[in-house]
Amino acid sequence: MDIYSLIKQDHQRVIELFGLLDALEIAAAERTRLFKTLKQELTVHKEAEENTFYAALSDLPEMTDRIEESLEEHVDIEELLEELDDLDSESDAFIAQLRELKEEVEHHVDEEEGVIFPIARELLTPAEADRIAQAMQEERSRLTA
Ligand SMILES: [Fe+2]
Repeated sequence: MDIYSLIKQDHQRVIELFGLLDALEIAAAERTRLFKTLKQELTVHKEAEENTFYAALSDLPEMTDRIEESLEEHVDIEELLEELDDLDSESDAFIAQLRELKEEVEHHVDEEEGVIFPIARELLTPAEADRIAQAMQEERSRLTA
């Protein structure tokens, strides 16, 4: 699997979790459990992506600004996750904050898949894209061990 499919798979999992969290009839305990999974997924994704894909791209002058921007978005996402962690998952504040996180993540995903991927496909050879995917998978395993 190349790096683009691998990252898309991660994004898809996160989007699915947001969908499950959106269900109105969801029980508080279930919401808390889903949020913990979402936080874990996003944290691992962020770390693995930064240490492999972003690290490879940030060496390319065409990508420096984009990667800088994406890193800032990762920080915003991390901050929202921390804030959410301190809120009661049944509170209105939690729901509002979760919506903000969802928008932030959706924007990040659109930017990455719509802007960064097309440029990266031109700059990285298929062999490099495979190597980075391999590195990201190893990084994911290390982080979730
Ligand atoms: Fe991402």
